[in-house]
Formats: sequence, structure tokens, C-alpha cells
Amino acid sequence: MSFVCDCLGVNDLGHLTIGGADVPALAKKYGTPLFVMDEDAIRATCRNLNAALKRHYGGPFLVTYASKAFVCKYICRLMREEGMGADVASGGELYTALSAGFPADRVYFHGNNKTAQELEQGLSAGVRRFVVDNREELRALNALAAQKGVTPDIALRITPGVEAHTHEFIQTGKIDSKFGLTLENGQAEAVLKEALALPHVNPVGIHCHIGSQIFDTEAYQLAVNRLVGLMARVSHDLGHSMTELGLGGGFGVAYTCGQDPLPVDQVAARLASAVNQACQEQRLPVPLVVVEPGRAIAGPAGITLYRVGVIKDVTLDGGLSRLYVSVDGGMSDNVRAALYGADYSATLASRHSDSPPRLARIVGKHCESGDIVVKDEYVPADLAPGDLLAVPVTGAYCRSLSSNYNQALRPPVVAVKDGQIKTLVRRETIDDLLATDQDA
Ligand code: LLP
Repeated sequence: MSFVCDCLGVNDLGHLTIGGADVPALAKKYGTPLFVMDEDAIRATCRNLNAALKRHYGGPFLVTYASKAFVCKYICRLMREEGMGADVASGGELYTALSAGFPADRVYFHGNNKTAQELEQGLSAGVRRFVVDNREELRALNALAAQKGVTPDIALRITPGVEAHTHEFIQTGKIDSKFGLTLENGQAEAVLKEALALPHVNPVGIHCHIGSQIFDTEAYQLAVNRLVGLMARVSHDLGHSMTELGLGGGFGVAYTCGQDPLPVDQVAARLASAVNQACQEQRLPVPLVVVEPGRAIAGPAGITLYRVGVIKDVTLDGGLSRLYVSVDGGMSDNVRAALYGADYSATLASRHSDSPPRLARIVGKHCESGDIVVKDEYVPADLAPGDLLAVPVTGAYCRSLSSNYNQALRPPVVAVKDGQIKTLVRRETIDDLLATDQDA
């Protein structure tokens, strides 16, 4: 049997395994729905990315984990151990990283609308880099830094006018976007000039993030050329050398066997070559390159386990029918199908079945017709209530986008490593649900 990600297997009992651990045993111990992460898979991706850049890039680099994909103290500690940076995009993500002992001098602080409180929090922590999104933030940061008597290094977020081939909601590098400073109309250079004149910010770099779930490198290469072109103009016209180039994340992953993204180490290698070449053409020294994948690191390392409940055979027009398989979670733990029409796969985890496959729709238990987990999947015809289904590649943007819709309790997250199971995040309790509720 082949799976969409490497961390899955089947043992002698016919049970699904993740990182070698028996999946039904995990469900028995922790209940369902349950997120399970394979620690080795997370570490392996970090190492592959670092190795690829080391091999192909002629200058310094930092691989930074985009914590929005999935954040808790455990993953921050893992990232610290792997020598990674951390991208945070809110005070809450910064707080989580710092609480895990993640070094502030490897934190990149993102966000298109950072509050004064967040800027203050970042300054007090001594984050390595503020990635400044707009003129207002630049001025606010300069003023706050002046009050504190510090001069933080900053990178300016540039919108390079590149449209990556991905879902509209996760494209970010095109001009019509809420993110960053537009390159085309001169806004980016104007704000950069202003930054150079301000006494309490030190513009060391430029940054872009062109989108997410990108399968090829064409758009990245275009963005590299535009950004290195900007670095060259700044060097020639303003006499200022930028020493850092942030290329964002966005490396695509396969959610189903039909998807075929370029392996992440190859993406990293191509990005490295693009920067090497662009710098050579512009006669610039190679900068510190920062890449910040989130999905590619956490996504394929995680699965969600569900217990099958009601199975309904619905007769449609023309003699057709659809099999609805309801599970005990849904859009509260994975909103990506509803939000982006995302595709997933599902596999029977609790036993082997020789039954012929039957096309089904795996749905959740929420009060929405759009509460779909897997739109179309072949399941064994003998699938029955009580069986366990696993949905692979849910390590990124599932737990982090989860909600308490219908007062659902958010599932726990456990990690498997060398046969040991660690609880990263416990299951919410009914008391958690009312923790913020006031007797008004
Ligand atoms: N850097 C910046 C500045 C970002 O905004 C993002 C993602 C990343 C890095 C990491 O991108 P990744 O490597 O994970 O693709 N909720 C959506 C994804 C939104 C991504 C937002 N920014 C989803 O579930 O597909």
C-alpha cells in the first residue's frame, strides 16, 4: 500500500502506523479526533532544507519555520534544536516561541498590521528582525525604538508583482494585496529611502512572500530577479548595501497522490541558484538568504485520526447515489476544504479490508453543508461505524486554523519519536469552553 507521505506504514495487525507507532493504539489512548505528528519527519525536512542550501548557495542563509503553520512550545524547541529561525506573525506567536525558550535573535517578526503593543513586545524581546510591511509601521517602530534608545535591524516587505499559481486567498506577492510595499509604482523605494533617513531603524534587507502551496519555482525566480534588481538600484542610487534577502515560504506539498510538487530540497536548490545568478549579473555580493517554509515542514509530518460515525447512502437524481461518511470532527479541526476547496485523502487505519472500494464523501459533524473533510475518496465498501479513518498531511494549517465551532473541543496533538509518545497539546475540556465565559 502506498501513502501520500513517508511517515505512514501498516503493521502485522493490519493497523496503520505513523513513525512506527500503532495508530489504533493512539486512538485508544487519546481518543478522537486526534492530531499525530512524526517528529523525525519534521526534523528530516529541516535538515534537507539546510543541506540543500549549504550545497547550492554561495553565501550565508537561515531557514526559518513559519510558526503559523502549527505552533506550540514543542515545535519551537524542535526548531531551536535544528538551528532554525522562527517566523512569528503576532504577539501570540512571539509569546509562544519565547515561552519555549526560542532565542529572540532568531525570530523574524511579520505582520501587516502590527499593533503598538506588538512592536513594543518585539523590541523588548530583542527580536532579530522586524519585517516592516508599511510606512506607518516604519514610523511607529522608529518612534518606539527612539523612546527605548535602540535601533533595530529591519527588512522591508516588498510586493514584487508576481502571481504564483495557487489559490487566490493564499497568493500574496501580487500587486492587489494587503501585504507589503509595491515595487512597480516606486512605493517600495520611497519607503526604503525614508527608512534610510530615520535614525532608529536600520534597513538591512528586503523580503517577499509570494504565496503558499506553490508547486514550481518559476514565480520564485521572477521574484528573486526583481528583488535583487531592487538591491542593485539601492546600492547604485542610494549607496546603501542591503545584506539580507528574504524569500518567504510557500513550498507546496502533496495532499493527495495525484499532486506532484517539486521536493523541498530541490526548491531550495533552485532558489539558491537563482540568487547566486542574479547577484552575479548585478555584480552584488551574495546576501544572507532567508527562507521561511511552514507547510512543508509541519504538513506532511501530521495526520488526523477520526472515528467513523453515521454512514448514509443518499439517492440522487438519475439513479445515482452518494455515500456520506460522517466522522467525529470536521471543519472545526480542518477548515481547509471549506475555505480553499483543499483536497485530502483518507485511509482506513484500524484494520485491513479486502472489500472493493466505494466512492464516498467524508464529512464532519458540524451544522454546515460545507463541512467536508475529504470531498471524494474511495473507502472499503465494508467501512462501518467505529472504524478509524486517518487523513494524512494535516500537520500544517489544521490545528492552527481550528475553532470551537458548535462548541467543539479542539483535539489534542501528540508526537511520535522512537516509539515514545509525547502529548504536545492536550484535548480541550468542557471547562476550557467556558473559561472565558462570564456570568454577565
Ligand atoms: N512567510 C510569510 C510571510 C507568510 O505569510 C507565510 C504564510 C509563510 C512564510 C509560510 O508559508 P507556507 O510555507 O506555510 O506556505 N492558511 C493557508 C496558508 C496561509 C499562509 C499564510 N502565510 C492554508 O491553509 O493553506
